[in-house]
Amino acid sequence: MALQTAGFVLCLTGLQLVHAADPSNYVAAVYEHRVILNPNPRVPLDRRSALEHMKKNLRVLEEQTALAAQQGAQIIVFPEDAIHGFNFTRASIAGYLETVPDPEVVTWSPCADPDQFPDTEVLHSLSCMARKNRIFVVANMPSRQTCSRAIDPHCPVDSQYQFNTNVVFSDHGTIVARYHKQNLYFEAAFDTPPKIEYVTFTTPFAGRFGVFTCFDILFRDPAVTLVKDMGIRQIVYPTAWMNQLPLLAAVQFQRSFAYAAGVTLLAANIRAADFGMTGSGIFTPWDSLIHHDAKGSSGKLLVRTVPVLDPTFRGKGVDDVRCTISPFSGYRQKNQGSKELEKTQMLPTSSFDRKQGDFETKLCHKDPDCIERGLSENPTTFSSIMMYDNFTLVPLLGNKGNLSVCSGSLCCHLLFRRSVTPEFYALGVFNGLHVVHGTFYLEVCTLVKCTGLEHSSCGGETEHAHTLVDFRLEGTFTTRHVFPGILGSGMTLEIPDHSGWESGDRFYMSRTGMSSGLVTAMMYGRHYERDGV
Ligand SMILES: *[C@@H]1O[C@H](CO)[C@@H](O)[C@H](O)[C@H]1NC(C)=O
Ligand SMILES: *[C@@H]1O[C@H](CO)[C@@H](O)[C@H](O)[C@H]1NC(C)=O
Ligand SMILES: *[C@@H]1O[C@H](CO)[C@@H](O)[C@H](O)[C@H]1NC(C)=O
Repeated sequence: MALQTAGFVLCLTGLQLVHAADPSNYVAAVYEHRVILNPNPRVPLDRRSALEHMKKNLRVLEEQTALAAQQGAQIIVFPEDAIHGFNFTRASIAGYLETVPDPEVVTWSPCADPDQFPDTEVLHSLSCMARKNRIFVVANMPSRQTCSRAIDPHCPVDSQYQFNTNVVFSDHGTIVARYHKQNLYFEAAFDTPPKIEYVTFTTPFAGRFGVFTCFDILFRDPAVTLVKDMGIRQIVYPTAWMNQLPLLAAVQFQRSFAYAAGVTLLAANIRAADFGMTGSGIFTPWDSLIHHDAKGSSGKLLVRTVPVLDPTFRGKGVDDVRCTISPFSGYRQKNQGSKELEKTQMLPTSSFDRKQGDFETKLCHKDPDCIERGLSENPTTFSSIMMYDNFTLVPLLGNKGNLSVCSGSLCCHLLFRRSVTPEFYALGVFNGLHVVHGTFYLEVCTLVKCTGLEHSSCGGETEHAHTLVDFRLEGTFTTRHVFPGILGSGMTLEIPDHSGWESGDRFYMSRTGMSSGLVTAMMYGRHYERDGV
């Protein structure tokens, strides 16, 4: 866990010094829950046994809600699958399902009025957590909704939808929002909702929040539409995310989304060590409080004060906040061009001025041609598989340079200088349809630390690096949706010093003076329109 504050704040200064009592701030909590799983999720359970299982998880959530409220939290987010687990079939999850009434149609606090709808024990328990502790609760649970095949062509053959559902309770325990996950991740138990749902709810302390779940973060709908078309600047985000370095660790992409979209993201992941699931955080566009723990076996509550970012919220001081957040436009500082790398001397120059002779000799297996080409501006490209995609890469040789690598219309340019270490880095490009574990079109420029000295080690998973790198990375993207990210050694999250569009179609980011080694710098472009081709 670390409180990571960016050196550069666009609209706000002294974020950490503000008080919750100030109406332009509020206190948020997320809980990373070590989920107690059903060991045989494919075997159907009767309702009583399913409830017994879920109560084990609900008891933990209840304790954590009380702890969060004691620390002043006004909203708490729990992870996806935190109550029931995962890997069910459509039939085996039956005992776990409850019907969640549509809050647009029915105003209902299950805690205040437990008998209004039958078989709603989980809703009742969550509603009471919210009501007792005077806190908004965001939880994820499996739900059913009956439908008629006569009037709805999407209605499943058994005349009920089964949804992966987020439910939001007000501090009175009233259900104020219900969201059915749109982008399912191989979840056999659930149906995709017949219509994309754009769900928001309003709080008295921070205005509007949007809701989506896990894999949704990689797709346009509902995530990007909520932000770009509906003006949502605060998101609650239950997730059950399997980490995958070098580009898609949970906190890494959460950081990138909040930065790129200019939103606060309250992200709660589950902890399931056997499945590589960990990584939660409270992110503003500028800074974050995170938890990533691949080894431990307990849950983790994060609580922090965050500024209100909803521009429609009528509170004191919001004018300062809403000033210039414009999703996917980057964060520029006045008077800065492409020269900041040369101008900034935050690292001792001596560490950049030495030649890396020994390292190049080793990397090039003593081939002088290789060394020569590598130190020139056009080193030979190679390919390596990174997260199932065939990237084209060029090696970084020497301790500074200016490199390019292209794939189709996407050219990635890197200006860098680095400290002297025996670590191998490469600049990579991928422009194509990703097809493993989901289908989505990517335009990616990335600088990665390779895990060894072989080309094939570029794209491998590592959390550690010693090399300090100052860089400026630029790409000729055809999408406007570029998610910049910088990951330092030991899962430290950084944001760029600057980022933005240049000459209309080039997105860049730059960073100098990092205090930890660079693991990954990426500009992860999503070309939503090309997902279907
Ligand atoms: C879920 O299913 C996958 C694939 O069938 C399997 O590898 C994994 O062990 C299962 N997890 C649980 C919790 O049952
Ligand atoms: C990756 O692409 C290169 C050419 O772009 C090709 O030579 C290589 O075989 C591909 N690798 C794999 C594993 O498909
Ligand atoms: C890097 O190379 C590009 C062209 O490849 C050039 O336009 C740019 O000026 C170079 N930058 C530096 C600092 O050498």
